[in-house]
Amino acid sequence: MRVFVTGASGWIGSAVVPELLGAGHQVIGLARSDASAEALAAAGAQVQRGTLDDLDLLRDAAAASDGVIHLAFKHELAFSGDFQGAADADRRAVETFGEALAGSDRPFVLASGLLGLAPGRVATERDGRDPDPAVAAMAAGPATRLATAQWVLALASRGVRSSVVRLPPTNHGDGDHGFVAALVAVAREKGVSGYIGDGSSRWPAVHRLDSARLFRLALEQAPAGSALHPVADEGVPIRDIAQVIGRHLDLPVLSISPEDAGEHFGWLGAFLAIDSPASSALTRELLGCQPTQPGLIDDLDQGHYFRDPPA
Ligand SMILES: NC(=O)c1ccc[n+]([C@@H]2O[C@H](COP(=O)([O-])OP(=O)(O)OC[C@H]3O[C@@H](n4cnc5c(N)ncnc54)[C@H](OP(=O)(O)O)[C@@H]3O)[C@@H](O)[C@H]2O)c1
Repeated sequence: MRVFVTGASGWIGSAVVPELLGAGHQVIGLARSDASAEALAAAGAQVQRGTLDDLDLLRDAAAASDGVIHLAFKHELAFSGDFQGAADADRRAVETFGEALAGSDRPFVLASGLLGLAPGRVATERDGRDPDPAVAAMAAGPATRLATAQWVLALASRGVRSSVVRLPPTNHGDGDHGFVAALVAVAREKGVSGYIGDGSSRWPAVHRLDSARLFRLALEQAPAGSALHPVADEGVPIRDIAQVIGRHLDLPVLSISPEDAGEHFGWLGAFLAIDSPASSALTRELLGCQPTQPGLIDDLDQGHYFRDPPA
């Protein structure tokens, strides 16, 4: 297939591109900078220069493709305080892709998230389709992202083989700059490896190479309207993560009170507090695949998260 991929230069995208090329697909990756364009070309992809705001360009690129995988998200904007602005830009790009692909029966695969989908219980692929109290309790930006994912699932009724890959909060691996890397950085800075309260909040987890394989399988096989969970560890207690970090950095492992979590963990505190385990049983059955990479604790024990940071 000739596949248009946004976010192809990112953490997930740089694993998805070789996965697609290795399976014989042709990749056209969106790049907004020279550095991203060079990285994509070096990986063997064709480069489409442009940004998420170039809606005409996105429409044409989708129309000229056999399928679209949308991984780009304005994280810099989202994490500098304007999550809503990032979610709104994402919605505009997604609607553009949906309109371009309507009636074609071609695949459109959207990256979305699992955190907070069904707090306090194990989320399944059946969750997150209808309005429910957990969703109503979300902040506006994350609620917009969830609504966008629901819109994509509904494209199934408009002749798009749409699917949503709901990523766990950690897609771990060597070179990770996400939540777990941020937790390691806080431990180094504070001199303690902390968790909130009794540390029993659970996060699902997956290795990014297993996520990448699921994006390829979604593109190739997922029936229209599929919600998919690339989950290897159903729920790892944050306390267990903190203990491994403490052991590797030789730091004390301590409970931080919920009142002090914001001061201690900064922006990460709100995410660490969410108990959000998730199952992937239905995804494994639907696509006939199992994760093959190390789980989160084993991956942490490989040591790459604890190399000395650059001076
Ligand atoms: N990583 C995780 O653990 C995780 C967990 C849950 C959900 N997700 C979701 O999965 C998707 C991929 O995440 P990721 O970790 O790979 O993110 P990432 O490493 O931050 O990569 C983001 C990608 O989007 C591109 N991008 C950002 N702003 C853009 C713009 N204005 N125009 C065009 N491209 C733009 C970036 O391009 P540059 O290379 O030029 O910066 C990069 O390729 C996102 O939707 C993310 O929210 C990820």
